[in-house]
Amino acid sequence: MTLEAETKAVVAQFDYTNEDVNKAVKEFIRQMGEGLEKEGTSLSQIPTYVTGVPKGTEKGLYMAVDLGGTNFRVCSINLNGDTTFNLTFSKVAIPRELMVAKSAKELFAFLAKQIELFLKEHHGDQFEKHVRRRMTVTSPEGFKDEEVFRLGFTFSFPVQQIGINKGKLIRWTKGFDIPDAVGKDVCALLQQEIDILHLPVKVAALVNDTVGTLMARSYTSPGKTGTVLGAIFGTGTNGAYVEKLANIKKPVTGEFDKSTGLMVVNTEWGSFDNQLNVLPNTKWDIELDKETPNPGIQMYEKRVSGMFLGEIVRLVIVDLLKKPEVSLFKDENSSTNDWKSTTSIAPNSGVFTQWGLDTSVMSVAAADTTPELVALRQALEEQLHIYSPSLDDAQTFKAIAAAVGRRAARLSAVAIAAIVLQSGTLTDPAYDGEEIDIGVDGSLVEHYPYFRDMIYEALGQIEGIGAEGAKRIRIGIAKDGSGVGAALIALVAADMEKRTSG
Ligand code: GLC
Repeated sequence: MTLEAETKAVVAQFDYTNEDVNKAVKEFIRQMGEGLEKEGTSLSQIPTYVTGVPKGTEKGLYMAVDLGGTNFRVCSINLNGDTTFNLTFSKVAIPRELMVAKSAKELFAFLAKQIELFLKEHHGDQFEKHVRRRMTVTSPEGFKDEEVFRLGFTFSFPVQQIGINKGKLIRWTKGFDIPDAVGKDVCALLQQEIDILHLPVKVAALVNDTVGTLMARSYTSPGKTGTVLGAIFGTGTNGAYVEKLANIKKPVTGEFDKSTGLMVVNTEWGSFDNQLNVLPNTKWDIELDKETPNPGIQMYEKRVSGMFLGEIVRLVIVDLLKKPEVSLFKDENSSTNDWKSTTSIAPNSGVFTQWGLDTSVMSVAAADTTPELVALRQALEEQLHIYSPSLDDAQTFKAIAAAVGRRAARLSAVAIAAIVLQSGTLTDPAYDGEEIDIGVDGSLVEHYPYFRDMIYEALGQIEGIGAEGAKRIRIGIAKDGSGVGAALIALVAADMEKRTSG
């Protein structure tokens, strides 16, 4: 086959038709219902103990830390009470070896250390005062309330939540794998390490990043319907939405405020349809899954999120490179039979190693619409060490990346549509004509060109939404969402604590 025909055949395999999308939305709604009824389902539907969304009037200084992707962030947030906030943060890359450390202690001690460094740098006065007081006070209970920072812990992995600041890790995702942490209360693990360093910090709330995003978006853009969904399309993907308490049929134990009749549910939609009833499954999806630490789970995430899209593209490219008759990235002067040496790709290129193709190259490909694809060819050369890629090479790369990206966006629309339909807001006369607000965050929605446009295009094709409905859905970025959201939940938790103790 010619390169053009071969590319077409590959691209066709990533087609996810309107019919597929509609079938998947129905299955998503079915699996949501199943998850609200019992434990152990594909969509975990985890009750979060957060029973309402903010109004924008909340006030106070809080801390938040965020663990869940590539970086660990520590921040302090001043909520000004008028839908605005000021945020100070520091960010460190999580050392790869800590993601797969032998024991959880190594990782959590590192996190506590970063909190200490942050306090010293940004809240030096309070920290110094605390150090002086520590000479006279021997237990954390001995500190005055106002001397202690309430901290919201954004921990973006599936956690069985038992209370607002208590939850056991169900499983790791996104390349993390520290077996002895599974089943443990991650708040307690962090508090222990904070206490060893004698820091004036109390872990007040445990928050998934999607819940944080939902809260942050409600705080900054309060609308009539409130924010219906908070979603992440980044390294991983997931969503949290507001559900009627009455619909949560499985037991929700522990203390929480029942007066709103609502609870935010963390869907853990990364694991939607692990059984592959409706998800597409090309040979490259199968290959990718086999090589991950968690085969058979997070099957939706493995087709949608940033950590995996580049890897799918890489696997397709490698397949094409192995075909002698396909002229992709070929070294015209090569005379060997070894497939790698017949290419114009340096041996140390990311093309030849797992996870070696970063989604950012896909973004360059999507953004470059010039006839000669100059920017893309330069990125292939600089980032992937492919020597002098031809226009044909670059066009092939662009077509494959676009097919994988488009399928991801259309799959993203499935989850968004299912939750909008489940919320009933589109047909509720009380919200007649109102915008349905959705807060999103993550590298894909932020940096992958046209990702949101492709989501909208698919939403318009979904039964029960259509072109009119799609226009009413407002997908807005919740910048720094998880930090601000965690602070907001720490505030709710602190209020709850005051009410129950006084
Ligand atoms: C993974 C995690 C989930 C998180 C998402 C986005 O899917 O399991 O908890 O919300 O990534 O970071």
